[in-house]
Amino acid sequence: MFRLDGKIALVTGASQGIGEAIAKQLAAQGATVVCAARTLNKLQEVADAITAAGGKADVIAADLSDTASVKAAVATTMERHGAIHILVNNAGITRDKLLIQMKEEDWDAVIDTNLKGAWTAIQAATKPMMKQRWGRIINIASVVGQMGNPGQANYVAAKAGLIGLTKSVARELASRNVTANAVTPGYIETAMTAGLSEDVKTEFTKQIPLGRLGTADDIAAAVVFLASDEASYITGQVLSVNGGMLMV
Ligand SMILES: NC(=O)c1ccc[n+]([C@@H]2O[C@H](COP(=O)([O-])OP(=O)(O)OC[C@H]3O[C@@H](n4cnc5c(N)ncnc54)[C@H](OP(=O)(O)O)[C@@H]3O)[C@@H](O)[C@H]2O)c1
Repeated sequence: MFRLDGKIALVTGASQGIGEAIAKQLAAQGATVVCAARTLNKLQEVADAITAAGGKADVIAADLSDTASVKAAVATTMERHGAIHILVNNAGITRDKLLIQMKEEDWDAVIDTNLKGAWTAIQAATKPMMKQRWGRIINIASVVGQMGNPGQANYVAAKAGLIGLTKSVARELASRNVTANAVTPGYIETAMTAGLSEDVKTEFTKQIPLGRLGTADDIAAAVVFLASDEASYITGQVLSVNGGMLMV
């Protein structure tokens, strides 16, 4: 079940956290994983760990806030591996501020990286996926994109936008056997949430029926499923992986 042998996957934001776990789990199922982010030495460590475990991995330095760089990452994947079957748009940043303090650059940075970067990658990967009549686009959004969050207007707008983008892409590409789905993590223990105080984490945990924060592997498992042949009749969906904190 869920084998991905022979598939080429491009994972953005694969240098740490959720993206690293996604890259490792896709590789464990047999995919060749191209790991993309800005920090090449961290990407190389992830790729080395995949190779040491018997998997196949490659690295590409890419900045998701730079359109040319995103297009180049997809083109390089095609040149080096001859195909792109699975695109995981995972790279993301936060610039949290209350609305009245949020600067235009905070808004632009988050929208450019989290939403426009994903759109650019999808657009670049669409042609080869349509041509090969097989593709999986998986966008890592967020539970807050479904429910809103004070202090994160930019991030929530980007993540809600990513969910809408997912649904439109799903409708446009379904006839070519390309699916598009979103995964919405709840609170996951990574560098992004490491700055939260223990008190805040305890408060969050009280809102989570399963009684714990999530792990990067919890999200990666959902991505592996959506990438697999077993998920071939699922498109345009939002798979919530949040311990039950939001039930929609
Ligand atoms: N952690 C959570 O609780 C949580 C909850 C819901 C959703 N998410 C989403 O899950 C995704 C991964 O989050 P995480 O917690 O694993 O975050 P993280 O530990 O901060 O990792 C973010 C990744 O994105 C990459 N990245 C950031 N800006 C980039 C850019 N301009 N170009 C290319 N890569 C870039 C980073 O690599 P470089 O810095 O090397 O570029 C890193 O690999 C994000 O989209 C986040 O919004 C996380």
